[in-house]
Amino acid sequence: MNKILVAYATMAGSTAEVAQAVGEEISKHGLEVDIRPISEIKDLGDYAGVVVGAPMIMGWHRQALRFLKRHRQVLRRMPFAVFVMAISLTQTGETGVAGVPVFVDEKLPKPPGDADRLNFRERYARLTKYLRPIINATNPIKPSSIGIFGGRLEYGRLKWWAVLFVMLVIQAPAGDKRNWEAIRSWAARLPEALQNEATSAPV
Ligand SMILES: Cc1cc2nc3c(=O)[nH]c(=O)nc-3n(C[C@H](O)[C@H](O)[C@H](O)COP(=O)(O)O)c2cc1C
Repeated sequence: MNKILVAYATMAGSTAEVAQAVGEEISKHGLEVDIRPISEIKDLGDYAGVVVGAPMIMGWHRQALRFLKRHRQVLRRMPFAVFVMAISLTQTGETGVAGVPVFVDEKLPKPPGDADRLNFRERYARLTKYLRPIINATNPIKPSSIGIFGGRLEYGRLKWWAVLFVMLVIQAPAGDKRNWEAIRSWAARLPEALQNEATSAPV
């Protein structure tokens, strides 16, 4: 079977729509695709590859991190890719993490006030800070590809504690920052990236 699984986690729904777009792009290459919330997935069966997508919610969505950890043995022999939705990213010049190049939505990073002295919020929103736990979840196996994109933030959809966290720590204005062109152009390269097992460690 040559089926790809796009598994996603979401808090307020917008990542589900991104997973849909990612799946659509993959299927344009003649591959069969299942797009499913992580909570519904029991095992990875005989998929040929997996794409795991989730937003930053005080760290990458816990469900997604747990998913990677739970399936780390299977992921030794199944290529996988990761996408991350975020509303704030500090421009630091970082282009990858642990040797894996990262596709960064060019509209997402914002330059810090003073590049030599990042403040708390700017340090918190560095690429490596966001992605290190994802890399650690399957270490030493690494994803074939990682993409990070602007997400959607709507205070009306959130519980009070989530609003408080975003206002205090993230300090981002509400809005839909999803850059569909960037998302689709990353996703269009996934069929090829998932065929490359060069980044997988030997079993
Ligand atoms: C409680 C909470 C915490 C968040 N933490 C971060 C964060 O650390 N960094 C970031 O860039 N965005 C953060 N965001 C923004 C979300 O990642 C963004 O809005 C995402 O697109 C939401 O996806 P969803 O609609 O699928 O839940 C946070 C949002 C919420 C509600």
